[in-house]
Amino acid sequence: MRLLVTGGAGFIGANFVQDAVRDGASVTVLDALTYAGSRESLAPVADRIRLVEGDVCDAALVSSLTADADAVVHFAAETHVDNALADPAPFVQSNVVGTFTVLEAVRRHGVRLHHISTDEVYGDLPLDDPARFTENTPYNPSSPYSSTKAAADLLVRAWVRSYGVHATLSNCSNNYGPYQHVEKFIPRQITNVLTGRRPKLYGAGANVRDWIHVDDHNAAVRRILADGKAGQTYLIGAQCEQNNLTVMRTLLRLMGRDPDDFDHVTDRAGHDLRYAIDPSTLTDELGWKPVHTDFEDGLRNTIDWYRANESWWGPLKEQVEANYQERGQ
Ligand SMILES: NC(=O)c1ccc[n+]([C@@H]2O[C@H](COP(=O)([O-])OP(=O)(O)OC[C@H]3O[C@@H](n4cnc5c(N)ncnc54)[C@H](O)[C@@H]3O)[C@@H](O)[C@H]2O)c1
Repeated sequence: MRLLVTGGAGFIGANFVQDAVRDGASVTVLDALTYAGSRESLAPVADRIRLVEGDVCDAALVSSLTADADAVVHFAAETHVDNALADPAPFVQSNVVGTFTVLEAVRRHGVRLHHISTDEVYGDLPLDDPARFTENTPYNPSSPYSSTKAAADLLVRAWVRSYGVHATLSNCSNNYGPYQHVEKFIPRQITNVLTGRRPKLYGAGANVRDWIHVDDHNAAVRRILADGKAGQTYLIGAQCEQNNLTVMRTLLRLMGRDPDDFDHVTDRAGHDLRYAIDPSTLTDELGWKPVHTDFEDGLRNTIDWYRANESWWGPLKEQVEANYQERGQ
């Protein structure tokens, strides 16, 4: 299969591309190589893919690459909520205009699309309520990040209905694993410890996230790409709810530190309380199941990866921490 993968030099995209190449796919990556993307994340398969440095909003480029693909997997996006709060403009451009550009290209060339989205489009859930997100949960995004992802999802749904575009969507919970940018919660804490800094927890750490290993997310995407129903939304989650305080304490323990050896910092504005996914449609319809069901094991492997790959994240660390310091975080 000839795949065009947008955002394939980012965290989830690079893991997806590495797996897809090993499975025999012919892959072209379109990535703007923003601060969040890197060629090094694709180094293990560099000689077996085509990497095009370009913007997903460039209609002529996206159209010509789409014409040569059997399917497009659309990961490209601005993704960090804190950055969106500081400057939402790139989020509107890449996430909304970028998705519009991809949709017009797949419409023109009759190419299959899988659109990658997030559970954050559903807003948040109360902490003391067992409810979980389903495909029928109304959209209620809280941040400039999640609202631009929600806008993109609505465009995809409308292009399916209005133009018969053959697209599927997935909304996944929080991912962790190798190649995640050190601005994100888990790699930030791991690399804080590895560089002798104190880990930082937003507020009291009560916010709950439903963690999934990136390989499980990508295995689900491959299942949907193969057998998903056009127009269907699939929620992807591994049923692993943890509050941030627990994740912090677990990381510190796994790294041989005192679990309370961290700083509390200013909470994120409008911080969503809890996300939780009901993945039944995916498990019942497509038979997908997560493999990385032991969260501590997954964290241990992730810590090992960051220990072994300082050359990948080291050059990013200073700038990220300087940005956080400026915001008092
Ligand atoms: N990380 C998570 O926990 C998570 C969870 C659910 C869904 N998602 C979604 O998965 C996708 C990938 O997330 P990620 O964590 O890998 O993000 P990331 O920030 O690590 O990577 C994003 C990639 O997109 C590229 N990009 C950004 N703007 C672009 C543009 N205009 N043109 C071309 N390329 C551009 C960047 O260079 C980068 O390589 C996003 O759509 C995100 O919303 C992420």
